[in-house]
Parts: sequence; C-alpha cells; structure tokens
Amino acid sequence: MSNHDLIDSEDIPCNLTQNTHFQEIVEQAQKRRGFIKKGLGLSAAMFLAGPLAACSGGTDTGSGKKEQDGKDKEDDKGKDKEPTAALLGFEGIKFSTADSVVVPAGYTASVMAPWGTPLVSGAPAWRGDGSESAADQAKQVGENHDGIHFFPLDGEKGGGSNNEEGLLVMNHEYCTTTKLADKSPAYQFLFGADASNTNPWSEEKAHKAMNAHGVSVMHIKRNAQGKWDIVKDSKFNRRITAQTEMELTGPVAGDVLVRTNADPSGRQVFGTINNCGNGWTPWGTYLTCEENFNNYFGTKADDDQRTAEQKRYGLSAKGTSYRWEEVIDRFDYVKEPNESNRFGWIVEIDPFNPDSMPKKRTALGRIKHENAAYRLAEDGRIVVYSGDDQANDYIYKFVSDGKFVQGGDNSKLLDSGKLYVAKFNNDKASEGFLGKGEWLLLDRDANPLLAADPRFVNQASVLVYTRLAADVVGATKMDRPEWVAVHPTNGDVYVTLTNNSSRTEGDEGPNPRPQNRYGQIVSWRETGGDATATTFEWDLFVLAGNPNVYGKDDPRSGSSNITKENTFNSPDGLGFDKFGRLWIQSDGAYSNTGDYEGQGNNQMLCADPNTKEIRRFLVGPKSCEVTGIAFTPDSKTMFINIQHPGEAGDSQWPDMNGGIPRSATVVITKNDGGVIGS
Ligand code: FEO
Ligand code: CA
Ligand code: CA
Repeated sequence: MSNHDLIDSEDIPCNLTQNTHFQEIVEQAQKRRGFIKKGLGLSAAMFLAGPLAACSGGTDTGSGKKEQDGKDKEDDKGKDKEPTAALLGFEGIKFSTADSVVVPAGYTASVMAPWGTPLVSGAPAWRGDGSESAADQAKQVGENHDGIHFFPLDGEKGGGSNNEEGLLVMNHEYCTTTKLADKSPAYQFLFGADASNTNPWSEEKAHKAMNAHGVSVMHIKRNAQGKWDIVKDSKFNRRITAQTEMELTGPVAGDVLVRTNADPSGRQVFGTINNCGNGWTPWGTYLTCEENFNNYFGTKADDDQRTAEQKRYGLSAKGTSYRWEEVIDRFDYVKEPNESNRFGWIVEIDPFNPDSMPKKRTALGRIKHENAAYRLAEDGRIVVYSGDDQANDYIYKFVSDGKFVQGGDNSKLLDSGKLYVAKFNNDKASEGFLGKGEWLLLDRDANPLLAADPRFVNQASVLVYTRLAADVVGATKMDRPEWVAVHPTNGDVYVTLTNNSSRTEGDEGPNPRPQNRYGQIVSWRETGGDATATTFEWDLFVLAGNPNVYGKDDPRSGSSNITKENTFNSPDGLGFDKFGRLWIQSDGAYSNTGDYEGQGNNQMLCADPNTKEIRRFLVGPKSCEVTGIAFTPDSKTMFINIQHPGEAGDSQWPDMNGGIPRSATVVITKNDGGVIGS
C-alpha cells in the first residue's frame, strides 16, 4: 500500500505498551561495537573504496577479496568470510522520474495482466471508463497487484521445472481511494476518472470494490514469440474475492470470538481482504496474507464504540474510506463485533484445484500480515516467518507440529504448531552480528504471563488477539516490519523495516535516527542454523539513507553500502532468487526532492548478501510502488508487480492513452536468455 505524502494507517502506532523498541537495542549494540556508520560487517576497504571495488573481482583470488583480507580482520572472521562468485552481473541504473519502467541495458520489461484484464470465461474486456459491473469485475484481474508467485505446471499438476507454462498467482491488495473536495472518501479509479461518481453509494458499488480485491490465479504460457499469454478459458483461471467462501481452520475455528449472526459455527467466512505480500509452501500451495483488514471495519453509529482489542488492531472509529460498512452490515463493527476477528490471517490456496476452498490458517496468528516466508527444518517441520506491518509492531515465527512429507498429505501442517514473537537483545554476539535475540512462545498454557491474563481464556483467544499476547510477553517494537525472506542455502532470514514516521525527537529514547524516513533491512541467523531454534543472532544488512542530502557522518546518509548511485527509501518487497541474490523493492516517497533528492520513483534493487553491495535494477512509473517477486524455475523470467501507478494523479501507465492508470505485472527477461541479475 502507498506510502506517499499521506499517512497510512500502518504509520500510526496502536501499540501503547512500554515494550522496548528495536532502535534502542540497535543503539546499545552499536555503542558497544563502536560504530554507527561504518558497521554492517563491511571492511574498511569497502567503505573507503566504495562497494563496487570490493566485490567486482568475483572470486576468492580476486583483487577485491585480497584487499579486504588486509584491512579488517574482525570482519573476516565473521559470517561473511565465505568467498563467493560475483552475483551482480548487471550495471546499476540511474534513478528515474519518468512515467515508464526502466531496466538495465540488456534486459527487456513487458507488461502483462493489468487490472481489468479478462481472466475467467465470459469476462468483458477492460473498458477504461469504470463502467464494469460488480459481476464483470469478478471475472477480470483485480486492482492493485501485490505479492505474486509462479507455480510451474507439470501436466495438470504442480511441481516439475516447466519454464514455459505455469500458474501465476497474485494478490490484489486494495482499491485506491482518494478524498473529494468536501473531504468525503471516494474511489479514485474504480468507477472511472470522476471519483464523485461514487455518489450515490450502493451495495452494487461496494460489491464491485469487493470483487476488485483478493487473488487471481492465471494459467500462463509462453508463446512462439517468447511472450507470456493468459491461457483463455483454462479451468485453472480463477478469481478469489472479498466475497469468496472460505474456511477458518486450526485452533480458532468454531471459537466464540469468531462466531457471527450469519455464521454461528465460527468456521465459514466470506472473503479475503487487503492481500498484501504472499508466500508459498513446498507442497505447492499459495499463501496470501491479510494485512490492513482494519481499514474495512467502521460503523454508521455516531460514536466510537471500539473495544480495547479493536483499537489495538486499528479498526476505524467511525466510517471507512471503502464505505462497505454503509451498505453491508458485517463490516459495521457495532452490528457485527466479531466479523473483524475473521480477518488478519494467512490464507492457504491450492491453485491446482480450482474447486478448492481457501483456508484461513489461524494457528499462524492474527496480525496485519505483510507476507509469509517458509523454511523447512532439518527434521521436516515447516517454519513460517511473518511481520506485522504497523509502526512499533512485531515479527513472528510459526513452527509446525507435523512434518512435511514429499508427495504426502500436507494439508493440515499449518493447523497446529507453536507461534513465537521476536525479542531482540543487545548482548554480545558472535563476530559479524550486532546482538542476540530470542523467540518468545505465545502459548496460553505454557506461558504463565498469558495464563494469568483474564483476556486469554484459551489458545484461540491468544491467536485472535496475537498482538495483545505479544505485548504481554515483551516482544520488541519494530519500525513497520514488511517482507521477510529466507536465504535459499544458509537459511539466514532478512526483513525490511520500511520506515517509522511516528517516532519523533524526544520520544525515541537513544535512537540514532529519529523520524526514520528511510528504513532498514535486518537479518538474523537461527542458533545452530536450526530453523526451529528459540534463539538467534541478528545484524543490520543496510540502513537506507540519502548521501545526496546528508554527509557521511550523519546516520541519515545510510550505511556504507548506500551510495549516491543506489540511494532509496522505504524497503518493502523482499525476496531471494535461488542463486542467493536479494531483491529489494521500495514503497516510499517519490517526490525526488528534499530528503528524497536523487532517489526518483519507487524501484527494485538487487543486493549481494555476501558483499552487501546493492545496485538499482528497475525503476517504476510515476507514484507507483514496486512489489511482488517471482521467477520461473530457471530464473530466466522474472515477474514483479507495479502497484498504484498514478495515485498522485500523475501517471498514464501502462496504456499511456490519457485514461486510468492501472496496476500490472511486469515480465523481465534478459536479452541473451540468461539468468536475471547475472
Ligand atoms: Fe501492504 Fe505493508 O504493505
Ligand atoms: Ca508492502
Ligand atoms: Ca509499504
């Protein structure tokens, strides 16, 4: 979701606890280690010579490595000592403010499946004037593309290594809204360029908005010209919307907290909303993450009647900008107080079975899930990491009870397990790490703090009120956790902390970066490399900043792997390719002035986790964010999404015909047929 000059709901903290903020831990650790700017495990040679000099050699006998060896023994003893081949084979590009997608020389980017593309049989073509009905929108690709994954097709099932055909599954996070002159909310694009045509408001219009949300499953295939097409009338093509029937599973299913007038069973839910980032499983299912579900629940009542729990989750006190609560009772929290408890989950979808019912997996907790990144433990248990995107909220980890069996029935694996929340400490850690951390178990019976709290009568209440349980056990407040990504071979975990505009001078404690405008990426390694471990060691991978504006001794210039050439703000999307390249996407300010001078439009960068070098790979069109990362198995086709181009009223992308701008997928290939980024 957008981050531009408006304040998003995620920017406003709902966490009123006295729990320690991560920035205090960082400050303490940095004081002990004696650096702020040079740190991050980078050698002095790298800092002085610039990142390109240190890693372009490519091999352990190259000049770059040799130079590093002579300069900083401490860092060489750390986790980055492994010699590696150069991962970044492209020339980083300049910032751009153009209304187009820019990629490095030797690459091609092409648009596919923009919002409104006919998907399901009988869908009308995109009209461009917002005149489609709710029923039409339910058959077309939804609005505001976000998380995305490519599942290769092996005949009629998943698996294999098909680089030519597969199921591309993607999220549609939200509908872009705006404010009219009288400050009333309106949809910016959904009903045409004239937003005032949301008046009069109606149930049909609310249903159209609901159908623009959710997930698209697209059967795609590469044609003889090398372009990807949606396979027309494929049985796999599917839209899942904010009205699709789904099932609550796991410990919360049937609990009193999720029963409603329409569903006394507490198991049958309609719809998924604010599907932000994503994940997938080794058994071929897609995970869609419900993020800012709170923004859809308000009331027509005159006064704020929210409970403490509803406030902690940030429900709207009165009306919402989506206006569903005006015409559909379940979105009015006064009329249906438990409906919002049925959102905020990770939802598992089997894309290979078009008739399958999506499952809301409650064992993974109810937060504003950004994405879900899995790792298989050595014993076969599945571990899923997820961040809660709100200023001063937390990072979580789920460890399944059961074990993954290749080709077996894994359909219950996400229904039982242990849920943990992260606590970062500043105790002395191994070389190459800034501090240690621990995973605090959110188990009502095992944790005396939770057992003693009358709000938690059973484990279901811990999971419905995950944030409150994490408050009680003393989790560490973070700067808006966005995507989590797991390194494909060493299992190190990385998370983007996008920014935190809510912290101001005076209330940040010893924070070295009050008003964290730029964000950072934190990494950690589980103790012993064991994904199920309950302790870890952590480090900072990059502090984003702007050396065009701030001198090198000012922390706002960022860490030493930030240069005038690669500067960016607000890291958000994050993912590894199978070779270990770390892809970083931004969703931040795009003014290109003031603090953001020389950063241009939102973008995608590529980092080498070993050298920590970062190069800019792609820049998006005006006032978009770049989000979602997927590859074909050979890593020679990359799919990313451009979300909300033109939300500031300044883009015509991708049609460039003066009409409504629209989110779309961008397919990236290397002209020589090589691996993306190589
Ligand atoms: Fe939907 Fe936190 O981005
Ligand atoms: Ca995001
Ligand atoms: Ca964001």
